[in-house]
Amino acid sequence: MYLTKEEEQILNGEAGETLRQAIEILVALGDIYGADRLIPIKSAQIAGVSYKTMGDAGLEWISDLQGKVKVPSILNPAGMDLEAWERLRISPDFAEKQKSIIQAYKKLGIRCECTCTPYALEDFDVGYGDHLAWSESSAVSYANSVIGARTNREGGPSALSAALLGKTANYGFHLDENRVPEVSIDVECSLQKSDYGALGYVAGKLVGSKVPIFRLKSIPEADELKALGAAMAASGAVALYHVNGVTPEACKLDFAETAEKITIERNQIDEVYESRGKAGEEPELITIGCPHCSAAELKMAAELLEGKTVSKEFWIFTSRELAKRYPEYTRIIEKSGAKVVCDTCMVVSPATNSYSCVMVNSGKAFAYVPGMCGAKAVYGDMETCVEEAVGRTQKKAGGFH
Ligand code: F3S
Repeated sequence: MYLTKEEEQILNGEAGETLRQAIEILVALGDIYGADRLIPIKSAQIAGVSYKTMGDAGLEWISDLQGKVKVPSILNPAGMDLEAWERLRISPDFAEKQKSIIQAYKKLGIRCECTCTPYALEDFDVGYGDHLAWSESSAVSYANSVIGARTNREGGPSALSAALLGKTANYGFHLDENRVPEVSIDVECSLQKSDYGALGYVAGKLVGSKVPIFRLKSIPEADELKALGAAMAASGAVALYHVNGVTPEACKLDFAETAEKITIERNQIDEVYESRGKAGEEPELITIGCPHCSAAELKMAAELLEGKTVSKEFWIFTSRELAKRYPEYTRIIEKSGAKVVCDTCMVVSPATNSYSCVMVNSGKAFAYVPGMCGAKAVYGDMETCVEEAVGRTQKKAGGFH
């Protein structure tokens, strides 16, 4: 891998130990994946924030790093709401460790708004063709597929290294040849909102880490693409997908027919919803906001909950910026007894581990909650999540069906 004179000096430790470690990580990855050089990045998004997944070893590693990031950099969700952690009964010990992790990242100049939807923030600019080093899998999928930016699915340490150097190794999804569809997926039915998460869950299992191109009968909105990509990244390892006539590269570039073709039918999608009946127990906790809720999703939750009272724990995850930007939605949701929770999510917070059955409207959470939280997961659309949280009597009284 070619290095400039300055990069050679960094590798020799002439710019300090932190940058030496950072470039060593990037060069090692570049050598493994056949990168020709390092390329500048526009931003970094760093996963490995929750104390639940990092532990003391991760905290120690970050605390020892020196210097400042060279490009706008932001964190993935942490293990708790940084301002109201008591609400989900997080222990004081966990909270203290979590705050130390955030402080260590802050010292490096990283923005500590912990979200997996940085592209939804007003001042976190990302556009078509931008090279990035992002690490949360749904954010990576959205950036690559829906925005047409270019990022590999970085690990926490490699994204942090890229942030500190302002560069990443030029391989994988940074290169045109790796962005070409490898398998086409025909979906034989029209799709409603939460069907996209269920479709992603099914499709990810079928395609693994290949780049799929979908032919759909419906035109998905941005939130539906977000749900589709997040689920495929979790049940499979899809970091880039295209949708014929919808996503930017599928519209701009003339992709050839793929040799491999798959068809997905309605009954395969319906099977994901049948998890509710198969769980053998009632959900104790209802969660939405994986990936973090957009403004439209917060609005929909507020409209569904307005004038009702929940009888089960109901957590709605979003970024702090969106919760603040739309205080009226937050107020309506919280008036129902549901909680708007920022900086964290149902998967990376230890709070979910206290429940044995969790309802989600996300294909990604559906895939991860069992392994990461030790709870059964059942899948339903947002309306069903609200009905489950509110209970039967109020559902009838509310009359939203
Ligand atoms: Fe985001 Fe957590 Fe889901 S990080 S994509 S809300 S698992």
